[in-house]
Amino acid sequence: MYYFREDLKNKKPVNINVPNKKIKMGLNESSLDPFEVVKDEFLEKMKNVQLNRYFNDITKTLKKQLSEYANVAPECLVFGNGADEMLYYIFNSVRNDNNSFAVSLAPSYFDYKSYSGAVGLGIKFLSLNADFDFSVVEYLQLCDDVNCKLSILCNPNNPTGNLLNESKIIEILKQSNRLVLIDETYYEFSGKTFADKIYEYPNLVIVRSFSKSFSAAGLRFGYIISHPENIRELEKVMTIFHSNLMTQTMISTMLEKKEIFLEHNKLIIKNREDVFQKLSAIDGITVHPSATNFLTFSAGERTEDLFNFLIQNDIAIRPVWHHPILTKHVRVTISNAGHNAAFIANVKKFIKI
Ligand SMILES: Cc1ncc(COP(=O)(O)O)c(C=O)c1O
Repeated sequence: MYYFREDLKNKKPVNINVPNKKIKMGLNESSLDPFEVVKDEFLEKMKNVQLNRYFNDITKTLKKQLSEYANVAPECLVFGNGADEMLYYIFNSVRNDNNSFAVSLAPSYFDYKSYSGAVGLGIKFLSLNADFDFSVVEYLQLCDDVNCKLSILCNPNNPTGNLLNESKIIEILKQSNRLVLIDETYYEFSGKTFADKIYEYPNLVIVRSFSKSFSAAGLRFGYIISHPENIRELEKVMTIFHSNLMTQTMISTMLEKKEIFLEHNKLIIKNREDVFQKLSAIDGITVHPSATNFLTFSAGERTEDLFNFLIQNDIAIRPVWHHPILTKHVRVTISNAGHNAAFIANVKKFIKI
């Protein structure tokens, strides 16, 4: 007897298999622990937050702070447990029946497939070309179907690291008469946003995360920016108390001290350019420019051996070689100077073997 939805029978559980090594450069996390940075202010704030209650003023305060940070009105926002949960809600809200599907570029964020599948929404992919660019005509052709309910664009794109062509995004927003999701998880590293266009394009939905640029992967906090009418519809698929008061208090504290995190991002961008130069200078390594906190690179035929060599030396990076345009590629998260130096030293050591 199978008790669950038929389409779940053949779906694999979402599973991130990352080696747990001392130097963690595999998941695009930050090396800065936000609790260390704002501990005193957070604990002070918690004195006014009773965890035996459902409601607290912190929710309203945080909404206001976030609206100032994102430069949109509070009614254009909804927040929750990470960008992943926001994606899940969006997928859930657009799925109409078993034929419904979304369209995404590929390779892109792996979990679009995991979470669309989780709600029974199909997904079709258009492959990026070798320059990590795409044909807007082909993309729109794929979307031109009554069952296509969502167009997804990851900008900048994970795992290729590049910003997508702006005029192509605009073209999709204009031509597509369905919801267009722009995933701006790496926004603070690229500086590029479409948040100022939510009234111009009422089909635009933006997802952002605190996991990368606010160093808060373990806290689970992300948000959606969209036209207030879309926010109202999205809220219909959310559980009412999905975001907990302790996380809200911590995020509120972090937003009060946002300069610390934004300064840290400047350092990461500087470090990214430094690692880019150093990697590019190594014989046999090809590295792609990036508008994120990671670099995608290849050591050609030796890529898998390099990955294993780094693991043996307690450094975890991420294989991204599953898509044809990224065969023999891996992705490294930019970290602090010590981690970056250890990474570069080990790549050099491996190349000399
Ligand atoms: C493009 C993209 N979207 C969403 C996420 C999920 O972020 P969060 O930790 O906020 O759920 C990630 C995480 O790596 C990502 O790379």
